[in-house]
Amino acid sequence: MRYDFDQIVNRKQTASEKWDGIEKIFGAPNLHPMWVADMDFRSPQPVIEAMKQRVEHGIFGYNLRPDSYYEAIIDWMATRHQWNIQRDWICYSPGVMPAISFIIAHFSEPGDSVLIQPPVYPPFSQVVTRHGRKLVTNPLRYTNGRYQIDFDDLERKLDSGVKILLLCSPHNPVGRVWTQEELTQLGQMCRERNVLVVADEIHADLVYHQSSHTPFSAVSEELAQHSIVCTSPTKTFNLAGIQTANIIIPNPQLREKFKAAVDDHFVQFSNTFGMVATESAYRNGAEWLDQCLTYVEQNLHFLTAYREKQIPEIKVIQPEGTYLVWMDWRDLGMDAKALKSFMLEQAKVALLTGDTFGLEGEGFMRLNLATPRALLQEGLQRIEKAINVYRAGKG
Ligand SMILES: Cc1ncc(COP(=O)(O)O)c(C=O)c1O
Repeated sequence: MRYDFDQIVNRKQTASEKWDGIEKIFGAPNLHPMWVADMDFRSPQPVIEAMKQRVEHGIFGYNLRPDSYYEAIIDWMATRHQWNIQRDWICYSPGVMPAISFIIAHFSEPGDSVLIQPPVYPPFSQVVTRHGRKLVTNPLRYTNGRYQIDFDDLERKLDSGVKILLLCSPHNPVGRVWTQEELTQLGQMCRERNVLVVADEIHADLVYHQSSHTPFSAVSEELAQHSIVCTSPTKTFNLAGIQTANIIIPNPQLREKFKAAVDDHFVQFSNTFGMVATESAYRNGAEWLDQCLTYVEQNLHFLTAYREKQIPEIKVIQPEGTYLVWMDWRDLGMDAKALKSFMLEQAKVALLTGDTFGLEGEGFMRLNLATPRALLQEGLQRIEKAINVYRAGKG
């Protein structure tokens, strides 16, 4: 079926964090939301139908995940990522961040070092410090408009004694889809030093046409034994509210430890809708996803052309994956505070300012492309108008 991603669905008064939470969170009225990482698109129709059917049954007791649930995940990983996983490797978690939190708590001790690569998804630093672990950063290097891993710095940091590396792959917010070579190099460095790699691959399915995602534990059998890969259908199919993830762990010892952590928190039962939506999305969501990716990529072209013509001061860092775009605002010469007030008081848009992702992000902003083009245009027009006023004030 043909999906209409131009359709504007009113999300106000649906308890949406992005739309209904905006005024409270940003502290300013009438903002246009371009921030939190969910989509303004309806989920695939087969997923909606499967949930409707489940609702009609009318009983919502405890669940056991059926064989068909596991088969759907295995088939998706094989066809979408050429990644052959076994049923035993799949461990349930009520979300990717909860899984990472369990891992930090159960695979390291207070005071141990955990490494992240900023600018990166803010809960990565929070989960480390909230558990009383030491945060070690290996900032990404930004040269010639492209972000790369600083392997010299990584080696030094790993040598200082690191227990776990949190890898964001594809990377939120900079949009890199790490190559097989980069993953191999990083993996071997960690392997040699017995560092556990936890790969957050929640954005794995959201990759543009010229790129291809490599699951971390598909790089090699050896790396598979020393890593945990966090997957979920929630970003892919706009299902963040169902709070469900599947954590892939080929190594039996690591797996048992992870499952024990989930059991310790008494969260081993699937949420009914998480379970139903996961299976139907992986079984019947590919057609929707392909169309969605084409639409989002067209939004990226729209944004790139718009900024070239109207707001050349802002640079768009071309993403290889994720529906998020990282933009360099530094040519405007505003510091973090000025940028925030410009965005909230002049432009009236809610973007995430780069410093949210670590000090390295200062002067940058993150924008969400998974929205109907008319809404993207509305946000860009607001930014353009405010920049025109700013330019006039400077001149
Ligand atoms: C890299 C990354 N990991 C995890 C999450 C959140 O996952 P969950 O809702 O399953 O905890 C997000 C959401 O934006 C994300 O971008």
